[in-house]
Order: sequence, then C-alpha cells, then structure tokens
Amino acid sequence: MWDTVSPLVEPKKARHLCVLDQTKVLILAEEILDHDGVYPLNDQALIDLEGSGVHLLIERGNQLLGYAHYHDSVAQIMVAPLERRHGIATDLLTHIHLIDPHADLWAFGNLDGAQGFCAHYGFSPVRELLVMTRHMDEIPQPVPHDLVVSSFQPEDLEDLVLLNSRAFQFHPEQGALTIDDFKTRISTQWFDATGLIVARDSQETMVGFIWTKIDQDIGEIYVVAVDPDYHGLGIGRVLLNEGFIHLGNMGVATVRLWVESDNTSAIVLYQRSGFTAARHDVRYRMKETGT
Ligand SMILES: CC(C)(COP(=O)(O)OP(=O)(O)OC[C@H]1O[C@@H](n2cnc3c(N)ncnc32)[C@H](O)[C@@H]1OP(=O)(O)O)[C@@H](O)C(=O)NCCC(=O)NCCS
Repeated sequence: MWDTVSPLVEPKKARHLCVLDQTKVLILAEEILDHDGVYPLNDQALIDLEGSGVHLLIERGNQLLGYAHYHDSVAQIMVAPLERRHGIATDLLTHIHLIDPHADLWAFGNLDGAQGFCAHYGFSPVRELLVMTRHMDEIPQPVPHDLVVSSFQPEDLEDLVLLNSRAFQFHPEQGALTIDDFKTRISTQWFDATGLIVARDSQETMVGFIWTKIDQDIGEIYVVAVDPDYHGLGIGRVLLNEGFIHLGNMGVATVRLWVESDNTSAIVLYQRSGFTAARHDVRYRMKETGT
C-alpha cells in the first residue's frame, strides 16, 4: 500500500477520446516501443481507444506524458521515456484506484521499470503469458489431412464462438468471449477473413480454427483452438501449418504468439513447430494487506 493521497497532477479522464487524443496515445506507444522494444498496449486498449473505455491522460501543454487504460479489472500504464521517475505512473495508478481499488496491472515484457514500479507499490505476479516467435525462412508445405479447411464466413460465427468457449474453458478472458466480442474484433481494421481459418470434419462439425493477423509486418497466431473432443488427433498441427502457409503467402517473415506460461501442452506444440520463447507478459495484483 502507499500513501499518495493528493496526486501532483489531475489526469484528464475520458470515456471517448477525440481523434487528436487517440493519435497522441498511439504516437506515445510507438515512442515507447522504440525505446523499450515492447509495445505497451494490448488489443483491448487499442479497441477501446477508438470506441469507449476508461482513459486517463497526463499532459504538459499539448504533449502527452503518460496514459492509462482500464478495462475489466486490469489497467495498462505507460509513461514517456524521458518523463519517467517523476511520479507520473503513480498519479495514474492513484486515479485508477479511485475507479477500482483492486485493479490489476499488465506489464508487457515485464521490463525493469514495471517490475520496480510494481514492487514499490506492493504488487506481485498473478498471471504470466509467454510470447513465442518463429522465423519463417520458407513457406511450409501443406501436410496431408482429411479435414475441410476454409476461410471464415459469417455463418461460421456461432460454431466458432461455441468452440472457442469449449476450448478455452480454463482461460479467464478468451473463454468468456461472446458473439458480440467476436463481432467487435471482426469489424476492426486489421481483420482479414482469409486469416481466420476454420476446420470441419466430414460431418461438417467444426473441430478447430486458427486466427492469424498481421501487425506491422509481423504475423501473429492470434488464437488457435481445437475442440476438446478432438484433442490428440494432430488437428492443432494441421491448423498451425495452415496459418503459416497463409502468413507466408502474405509475405510475413516472423510469426509470434502468446500462450499461458503454464500451458505445457500448447508450449510443446509450438516448440515442435519451431517457436522459441521471446519474452513474458505479466499481470500483477496488489498483495492483500489483511487490514
Ligand atoms: C513502469 C512505468 C509505467 C513507471 O512510470 P514512472 O512514471 O517512471 O513511475 P513513477 O515515477 O511513478 O515511479 C514510482 C516508483 O516506482 C519505482 N520504479 C519506477 N520505475 C522504476 C525503475 N525503472 N526501476 C526501479 N524502480 C522503479 C520506484 O520506486 C519509483 O519511485 P522513485 O522514483 O521515488 O524511486 C514506466 O517505466 C513505463 O511506462 N514503462 C513502460 C510501460 C510498462 O512497462 N508499463 C507497465 C506498468 S506496470
């Protein structure tokens, strides 16, 4: 716990950001990527940036110094590299905690600054995602299989959401996605239906899907899911291969993915497919003080 009760700076709070503020946030995120080597916001923050969410901005004149986003019990905080260690993140966190005193924090890349900040305010890790990457020297050959593999069509949506919830029962965020959540993602600028590949068996039952996307020339395995009734049949490997072929055809040289660091079976599958560990993203929670 900490004693900051009267923050030095009152952040600007907004549910909807004007285009200028959206641009400032994106420019700051790029500046931080250049400096830290890790992009400081996730998809949810980017979706809410254009839509509706909890946004806190600390500015000097027209210059954005720090930004925080809050959604569903977790906040993301970023501070301009030259403005760090001046209490800006502290001010943002103080105001986030006025909204939700139990808000967690995401630390993408779990950088030294984030570790120091979290330790200082009594947060400890509660969830760890492993980021894995693979370089594609050449486009892989198709592997033989007896599935019907095709690009996503709108009529696949219901089956896809059901399969997603079955495959990710253990996953607090992914498994809870609704039809509306998928529709939101499908309507984003980056969505490309050819990168969302569904697999059905000979009875036309959907048995799995792989959702790829391309972010600034880097391919991403956004989601890969196999229905639990069809685990152990090699469908995951078929889907990954289909995803690689798609991304390779789109000219991508590097592919990355996120996986829960305790999901050993998925990590083994990815390692066998040529992925190696690149970094960790850590979710921090404030330790209970017992008071
Ligand atoms: C982590 C981050 C938000 C901290 O922002 P900040 O404005 O520099 O943080 P503050 O000035 O409020 O720091 C408060 C305290 O946290 C600790 N802290 C902050 N950065 C630290 C660092 N690099 N190393 C060790 N401790 C650090 C210190 O105890 C600091 O108090 P002090 O400066 O009086 O010693 C910033 O480094 C950043 O934007 N990093 C990239 C994005 C990111 O990782 N976000 C995740 C946040 S959990």
